[in-house]
Amino acid sequence: MQFMMPCFRAMTAQDLSTVMEIETAAYAHSWSEGNFRDCLSAGYEMVICDLEQQIIGYGVMSMAAGEAHLLNLCIHPQKQGRGHGRQLLNHLMQIADQKKAGTVFLEVRASNNRASTLYHMAGFNEIGFRTGYYPAGSGREDAIVFARSILK
Ligand SMILES: CC(C)(COP(=O)(O)OP(=O)(O)OC[C@H]1O[C@@H](n2cnc3c(N)ncnc32)[C@H](O)[C@@H]1OP(=O)(O)O)[C@@H](O)C(=O)NCCC(=O)NCCS
Repeated sequence: MQFMMPCFRAMTAQDLSTVMEIETAAYAHSWSEGNFRDCLSAGYEMVICDLEQQIIGYGVMSMAAGEAHLLNLCIHPQKQGRGHGRQLLNHLMQIADQKKAGTVFLEVRASNNRASTLYHMAGFNEIGFRTGYYPAGSGREDAIVFARSILK
């Protein structure tokens, strides 16, 4: 089945109410609006994924010292499984490339098979674990650390 191709643009503070609706729908342990505001103030790469003039997802990536760190990648639960997560990730990888990042890093909950599959298919490798990195329903959950070099 063919789905429409989304558009990408920079996130602004005006997007945050919709972003928070998606964030709380998509994650059991979501970011606060303050987290997003802090990232905007810090000048992180923050991308909105629009489909037919509706926000359906977003990504947040920090850049420093030739490295990019993908901090958040999210598609609205009702729009998942249609290739938009992969398209958004591709767009963020292009930004990392344009900004001359040599490597992109990210962490994923050990239980998040959907995201791990997406990152594996996008050429990321598992490079380590962070024990008890995330809060979880009953205690803490490990993070898998992924990395991908950006080849020239
Ligand atoms: C992870 C996430 C961004 C993926 O976005 P998506 O739009 O659902 O993913 P896509 O449709 O682009 O799928 C990309 C690949 O992911 C994998 N995938 C998608 N749905 C899957 C599922 N239900 N189970 C396992 N793998 C799945 C597949 O490999 C798929 O490739 P394919 O279409 O060739 O089979 C999205 O599920 C999401 O926002 N989840 C909640 C937030 C989150 O966990 N973010 C990641 C934090 S690190």
